[in-house]
Amino acid sequence: MGTLDRQRLATLIARERATYAAANPRSAAAYRAGQSNLFGGVPMTWMTKWAGGFPLYLDQAHGNRISDIDGHTYVDFALGDTGAMAGHSPAPTVAAIKQRLEVGGGLTTMLPTEDAQWVGKELARRFKMPLWSFALTATDANRWALRLARLATGRPKVLAFSYCYHGSVDETVVVRTPDGATMARPGNVGPQVDPSQTTRVAEFNELESVESALAQGDVAVVITEPALTNIGIVLPEPGFLDGLRALCTEYGALLLIDETHTFSAGPGGMTLANNLSPDIVVIGKSIAGGIPIGTYGISQALADQINAHPDADLVDVGGVGGTLAGNALSMAAARATLGEVLTDDAFLGMIALATSFTDGVQKSLDRADVPWSISQLGARAEYRFARPAPCSGTESAAAGDDDLDEYLHLYTLNRGIMMTPFHNMALMCPSTTQGDVDRHTEVFAQAVDELFA
Ligand SMILES: Cc1ncc(COP(=O)(O)O)c(C=O)c1O
Repeated sequence: MGTLDRQRLATLIARERATYAAANPRSAAAYRAGQSNLFGGVPMTWMTKWAGGFPLYLDQAHGNRISDIDGHTYVDFALGDTGAMAGHSPAPTVAAIKQRLEVGGGLTTMLPTEDAQWVGKELARRFKMPLWSFALTATDANRWALRLARLATGRPKVLAFSYCYHGSVDETVVVRTPDGATMARPGNVGPQVDPSQTTRVAEFNELESVESALAQGDVAVVITEPALTNIGIVLPEPGFLDGLRALCTEYGALLLIDETHTFSAGPGGMTLANNLSPDIVVIGKSIAGGIPIGTYGISQALADQINAHPDADLVDVGGVGGTLAGNALSMAAARATLGEVLTDDAFLGMIALATSFTDGVQKSLDRADVPWSISQLGARAEYRFARPAPCSGTESAAAGDDDLDEYLHLYTLNRGIMMTPFHNMALMCPSTTQGDVDRHTEVFAQAVDELFA
């Protein structure tokens, strides 16, 4: 079996860092300049997550190609961590945006547009949820949905899975202690209260841990991705999602399925592909082609439960909503993106490419007998430094390796391939080609061979 030599890894990282620094002087200078007026040196603190000590600065992005200000062009498998799953600036979305901006006008009027009805109907077709409401981010859609769930059930708590991620939603920045208690996830920035007051935590793929949490009788809603995607990919084991639904029903909790990333599974995410029956579906990021949007869909039964509380202020300052949410631009962009870019047919091609990507990586791992794994979820795939692939968030967190992440990110970037800076995810968009996948396969094989030579 291929054994990792840490000394060799350190030498290779140093070489790749030097290559990166030499190739990107303008990005390095822009980053230095940003230190004076930007918190963390960048417009949003996560942008320092890139390997190499400084991020590349964007020049242009079209389809699945990104160019930086040093003149390099990359095959983009990061795709804005799913925000650009439709590809960068897809033509139908750009046309709809221009139409709204230049011809229609009226970006923030508090008035609905007819596009919203089209988008709601299309989301209902895809995700089997009849009623939709819009936010500007998936984080906000999750937050508002949790409030509605508490209102409808009259219960205070949320059940989340250890190492889940649903955006910066206070209740979900949690992990489970070995004895089953809730604790703030390491690094949780200034939690408003101890999250054990708001949240029970279970382990993904462990129904017993879900049942013991739900049996306390105070959980309003279980919030989960149908496969974890934010701690590497952790796929559900057979029967887990059905068991989860059954337990929610038995203990009177609602089930919120967050499809923000698992939308990669197909046109209706895993809700459609795996025939799930949630009470709430949340999605965001990609569905408006990069224009800010988030949305939650609810069942008629849940809408009836909510509407049974006329005292709850849904139309003003009751805690659900935002001034720019549901704006005309988001709705126009979503209509074009869902109607003409991320179509049912587009997913067929994207998923076939992710299968080819997965096969290519697996061949390299097999050839060098490397104890890593790769998991595919429709149009996305991700390698993880454990074999077999982890089954829970806690297992997957234990398989993390910052040095290997840095090595692989720099190795691929230095050879024209951009992987997502969070762990090792690759996503296909409608303009990804077989040649792009083959290029990754070739570079990944070289990276493995050099490391395990
Ligand atoms: C599953 C899931 N839900 C919600 C979010 C939050 O999305 P946003 O950052 O656009 O609010 C993310 C972001 O990565 C996510 O992965």
